Amino acid sequence: MNILQLTFAILKPHIVKHPIALEEIRNIILTSNFKIVRSKRKTIAMREAEEFYAEHRDKFFFNRLVTFMTSGPSDLLILAKENAIVDWRRLMGPTKAYKALFEAPDSIRGRFGLSDTRNATHGSDSEESARREIGVFFPDFDIDKWYREQEPLFRNDKVIFCKELFIHQPTT
Ligand code: CDP
Ligand code: MG
Repeated sequence: MNILQLTFAILKPHIVKHPIALEEIRNIILTSNFKIVRSKRKTIAMREAEEFYAEHRDKFFFNRLVTFMTSGPSDLLILAKENAIVDWRRLMGPTKAYKALFEAPDSIRGRFGLSDTRNATHGSDSEESARREIGVFFPDFDIDKWYREQEPLFRNDKVIFCKELFIHQPTT
């Protein structure tokens, strides 16, 4: 197996409020063979949402986006897998609700997206984005150290899954 890639995912507020949707998306993550490296439930602060979505600052939807993202708790996840970035975005499906519904009805956004803004999940679009996004929400997480010390354990399945914390932890 090749080296694992990290991506950053958010299960957005309307998913965390809906236990059945949350459980189903968690199942998709696990059955798609992602390892969960970090998992944290948190109501995103306005300052964080604005920083996280800075590239969209001038878009018409920016205000409704950051208002929604700060409206209640989200689940913030660092996921690991070979090709994690592309695989997670493929599972999510298209950004926009109707495009997702018609073109990828079985995708996460096709199934659980409610609108262009409430589109269920976030996923990094590149390694550079993943690094930046992890830095916004997990400032203490040292990516280089993780690759040095933990990646081989995760790659070789020397981890156990903790259901309560929704996280994989090294067995050693
Ligand atoms: O999340 P993704 O990378 O697929 O899409 P984006 O173009 O980077 O947009 C970021 C987020 O802005 C989306 O996930 C939506 O929540 C929101 N958005 C919106 O509210 N209205 C749009 N027309 C497009 C995006
Ligand atoms: Mg994006």
